[in-house]
Amino acid sequence: MKMKENCISKGLRLCALICLVCLNNVRGEELPRYLDSTVALEERVEDALHRLTLEEKVAMVHAQSKFSSPGSSRLGIPEFWMTDGPHGIRPEVMWDEWNQAEWTNDSCTAFPALTCLAATWNPEMSLLYGRSIGQEARYRNKTVLLGPGVNILRTPLNGRNFEYMGEDPYLASVMVVPYVKGVQENGVAACVKHFALNNHEVNRNTTNVIVDDRALYEIYLQAFKAAVKDGGAWSIMGSYNLYKNQQACHNKYLLNDILKGEWGFDGVVVSDWGGVTDTEEAAANGLDMEFGTWTDGLTSSAENAYDRYFLANPYLDGLRDGRYSVAGLDDKVRRILRLAFRTNMDRNRPFGSFATPDHFDAARKIAQEGIVLLKNDAGLLPIDMKDSVNILVVGENAIRSMTFGGGSSSLKVKKEVSPLEGIRNMFGSAANVRYARGYVGEQLSEYNGVSSSVDISESRSNEELSKEAVDMAKKSDYVIFVGGLNKTGGQDCEGVDRASLDLPYGQNELIEALAAANKNLIVVNISGTPVAMPWIKNVPAVLQGWHLGSESGSAIASVLSGQVNPSGKLPMTFPRKLEDVGAHKSGEYPGVARNDGSNIVDCRYNEGLFVGYRWADKEKVNPLFPFGHGLSYTTFKYGKPDTDTSKLKEDGMVTVTVPVTNTGLKGGAETVQLYVRDLKSTLPRPVKELKGFRKVYLEPNETANVTIEVPVEKLAYFDDTRHRWVAEKGDFELLIGSSSRDIRESVKFTLDRDFEME
Ligand code: BGC
Repeated sequence: MKMKENCISKGLRLCALICLVCLNNVRGEELPRYLDSTVALEERVEDALHRLTLEEKVAMVHAQSKFSSPGSSRLGIPEFWMTDGPHGIRPEVMWDEWNQAEWTNDSCTAFPALTCLAATWNPEMSLLYGRSIGQEARYRNKTVLLGPGVNILRTPLNGRNFEYMGEDPYLASVMVVPYVKGVQENGVAACVKHFALNNHEVNRNTTNVIVDDRALYEIYLQAFKAAVKDGGAWSIMGSYNLYKNQQACHNKYLLNDILKGEWGFDGVVVSDWGGVTDTEEAAANGLDMEFGTWTDGLTSSAENAYDRYFLANPYLDGLRDGRYSVAGLDDKVRRILRLAFRTNMDRNRPFGSFATPDHFDAARKIAQEGIVLLKNDAGLLPIDMKDSVNILVVGENAIRSMTFGGGSSSLKVKKEVSPLEGIRNMFGSAANVRYARGYVGEQLSEYNGVSSSVDISESRSNEELSKEAVDMAKKSDYVIFVGGLNKTGGQDCEGVDRASLDLPYGQNELIEALAAANKNLIVVNISGTPVAMPWIKNVPAVLQGWHLGSESGSAIASVLSGQVNPSGKLPMTFPRKLEDVGAHKSGEYPGVARNDGSNIVDCRYNEGLFVGYRWADKEKVNPLFPFGHGLSYTTFKYGKPDTDTSKLKEDGMVTVTVPVTNTGLKGGAETVQLYVRDLKSTLPRPVKELKGFRKVYLEPNETANVTIEVPVEKLAYFDDTRHRWVAEKGDFELLIGSSSRDIRESVKFTLDRDFEME
C-alpha cells in the first residue's frame, strides 16, 4: 500500500515538474524578446526590427493622421501620439484637421510661455514645468510632447519668440535640460524644436539661412546640444527653413553630421508639420518620421494623402527597386522602436495626472518667478493693500483670454485667471477696482474650434475708449495698464512676424495720456518678445508680464501687491529701436529673394555671433533694458569675490565665490550672473558672455556665499578652421553682476596653456 502511495506521489511530482518545464517553454516562446522588459534595450530593438516586414517598417516612418503614426498592430507595438506643446497639452483634434474634435475631457493647465520660464533663471522651475506638463501629456496618453522650443531670439520681430527661451545660448541650455528630464520621467518623449535656425516666421518654409560656423555652433546649436547630450532628449523636430540649400527636416549637415554624428543622438528626428519636400533627401538625410505633409485639412488635402507622403509609397517603391537603402530604413525604424520602448512600451512608466490643483500651483509659481520688474521709480510698487485705494485697470489684455491663439501652442484650458480678475481678487476687499477698456485690438473669439471664455466684443472707437479711461484715471489713486501683444497674427503668433517693434492699437498714445492724467501709472506689458517703450520716461513702474498661462492674473496681482517679491530677469535685451539689433543693422531680415525663378529667400546672418547683448556690447548701444535686468522690492549688495584657481593648471577649472547680502527690508531672490571676457584671443570674441548664474533667496540682512564654477569649456570658442572648441591660453576676466549692464565685481586670471575639446 505504502509503495503504491509512494509511486503515485512520485508520479505526481514528476508530472508537476514536466508541466512546469512545458509551461516555461511555452512562456518562453510566448514572450518574444522585444516584449521582455528584462532584455537589454538594443536587443529588444533588434528583435522587433527583424520581425517587421518592409511595408510595416515604411508605415512606421510617416504619419497616419494629423498627430499620430502607426506602431505595429500585428506585433502589439502601440501607435505613437504626438501633441503640442510646449505650454500645455493641445486639445484633441480631428483625425485630419487642425480643428478640435470637441472632446469634453481635454481642457488642460496652461503653463507660462517659455520666455517666462527662462526669465525665472531657475532650473528648479524648469524641472517643475517639465514634470508637470509631462504628467499632463502622460495622462492624455501622448507619446511625444512637441516641445520645448529653444530657437535663439535673433530679432524681436519673430512671431514665435514667446515659445522660446530668449537670446542667450547658455541660459537656454541650462533651462532646457531639466524641462526635458522632467517630461521624460513620465515616459513621454520631449521633442526639442525647431532644429535649427528657424529664427523668424516670414517665408519660413523657403528661407535659406547663411550663417558662419562659429555663430552656428556657439549661438544657434548650443541649447539643442545641451538638450540632447545633458538632457537625453528622445526626439527632436526639424525646422521649416533651409540651411545650405537643403530643408532642415532632411538636412545632411544638421541631422547626419552634427546631431547624429557629432552628438551621437540615438533618438527620433520628427519633421515639422509639412516640412518635408523630397523623398531622396528624407531617405538619406537623417529624418525618421514625416508628419503634416499635404494634409492640413484646410487647403491642400489629397485623397489617400498618407500614402503619398514622401516617406510612404514613393519611399517604398524606391526601396523595392533598390534606389533607397534598406539599411537607411532600418536605422529610422530602430530609432522609432527605441522611442516605443522608452515610452508606450515601458511597463513601469507612471500614469500621469491632468489639470490638477498641483499643476495650477506650478503654473502660478513659475509665472510669479518669471515676471520681471523693469522699472520702479520712487518705490511706487508694491501697492499698499492696507490703504483703501482706488485702482483703475485699463487695457484689453486685462480681460482677454491669452491662452488660445498664437498658432500650434494654442490651448483649451480648464482655468484662466485674467489680470483683472487677479487684481480684483487681490485688492477687491481693500480697494475699489474699476475697469476701462482703453483700446480695442483684433477680436479673436474662436481659434481652431476653441472659443474664447470671455466675450471681448466692443463697438466703441479707440478715441471713445481712450477718453473714458483717461477721465477715470484722473479720479484714481493708481492706474494699472495691462496691454502689449495678444497672440493674433503679428502679435506673438506662429507664422506671422511683427511688423514693427511698437505696441499696436494706439497703446503708446494711450499710455502717454494715462501718464499725463495720473502719476501713479503702472504698465504691465504682456508679450513674449521685446517691445519699444517710447513713453518710458513718463511711466514710473513697468512689469514685464510675458504670456503667463492659467494663473496669469493671480501671478500679476501677487507681484503688484508685494505678496511676491519679483525676481525675474530678462532672458533677452529690450532694444530701443530695431536698428540697435545686429540682425537688422548688419544682418539680413527677412532675407533677399533669389532672382533665379525659385521661391528661395536667402537670409545672411552677417552679424554672426553678435546676437542680443553681444551686439549691444560690441556696438556700445544702450538698450532700453539690458539682458539679465530685473528689479526687486529689496536691494542686494555684492561683496568681494574669492577666486580659487588651484585646479586651473590641471583641469582648467576656476571657482568664484561671492558674498551677496539682502540689504533691504523684504525677503527676496537675486540671480547672480557671471560673464566671461577673453582679454586677448586669436579670433574675435564678444565683449562678455554669460557662463554661469545662481539664484539665491535671502531674508533681510542675510548673506549667502554664492559659488559658481567655471570649467574650461566655458572659456572656449569654436575654432571653425579646425572644427574644434578651443580655450586659448591667456588672460580672462570674470564679471559678476546683477545684469549684463550692472556688473558689480570682477576678477582676472590667466590660463597658461591651451585646451582643446570636441
Ligand atoms: C509648428 C510646430 C508644431 C506643429 C504641430 C507646426 O506648424 O511649427 O511647432 O509642433 O506644427 O502642430
